[in-house]
Amino acid sequence: MVGRRTEALRGARAALQDAEGILVLTGAGVSAESGVPTFRDARDGLWSRYRPEELATPDSFRRDPGLVWRWYAMRRRGIAACRPNAAHRALARLLLRRKDAILVTQNVDGLHHAALDEEEAPSQNARDARGRVLLLHGDIFRVRCTVCTYRRRDRSELQVDDGHALPRCPRCGGDLRPDVVWFGEPLPTSALEGATTAAAQAEICLVVGTSALVHPAASLPRLTLSQGGELVEVNPDPTPLSSAATWRIPLPAGEALPHLLGS
Ligand code: OAD
Repeated sequence: MVGRRTEALRGARAALQDAEGILVLTGAGVSAESGVPTFRDARDGLWSRYRPEELATPDSFRRDPGLVWRWYAMRRRGIAACRPNAAHRALARLLLRRKDAILVTQNVDGLHHAALDEEEAPSQNARDARGRVLLLHGDIFRVRCTVCTYRRRDRSELQVDDGHALPRCPRCGGDLRPDVVWFGEPLPTSALEGATTAAAQAEICLVVGTSALVHPAASLPRLTLSQGGELVEVNPDPTPLSSAATWRIPLPAGEALPHLLGS
């Protein structure tokens, strides 16, 4: 088993070095070693403790905005205390040195951007690399107005406990909501278009820490494969993509990615 794993790491590393066009798709597993809970882990995944339909749908927000806000404020507090791990840092260095790499993430925790900030001081190259991080499911530290186009990102603690008024738009007074994608909502058009184009053009897709159950994100690796590209999967547990992977690396992301992407 160890031999097979080493062989997969070597093969995938060489293929990633040679490929023109890399699409990286990440999910909650890439942040697990930073202390951010995943969604579907049977023991401590968010969806084993909370019901998505009560907390992460437009209907739940209409029904009980206070409950939804308190849940997001709690998650923001937890995530604000987390730092990028070795996997985020390896991916940040990849984006900084290769302009043909695009990272598409389902995560809303901001840790890919935080890793870029840690790896390189502000520069044109750093800004360019940030522009190649596409957020498919939004950003938990951003709020947006449900009435006008107001949007703002800030990491301050939200005061949404009972007795506090819920956040309102400073421009029009409308209700503010977390700027994340909820179940039943469309993905942000430009991120999805960018991700789809990148998936079709990439010679290799590196999928890290996603259960590959939520579409359209989970369809992107198959798009790369359908265009003749290859697939590397980093995940300790098998997923619906595993049988299609050219290389499957059953290791935690923080262990595998520095080896896979080390320059
Ligand atoms: P999941 O919780 O569904 O899956 C996390 C995956 O990470 C699992 O396959 C784990 O085996 C794997 N994993 C755990 N620890 C890991 C580690 N250290 N290294 C690598 N992999 C590890 O999370 P997502 O696939 O991201 O959507 O979930 C997709 C979407 O479903 C989320 O964006 C969210 C959720 O409902 C919305 O909220 C819209």
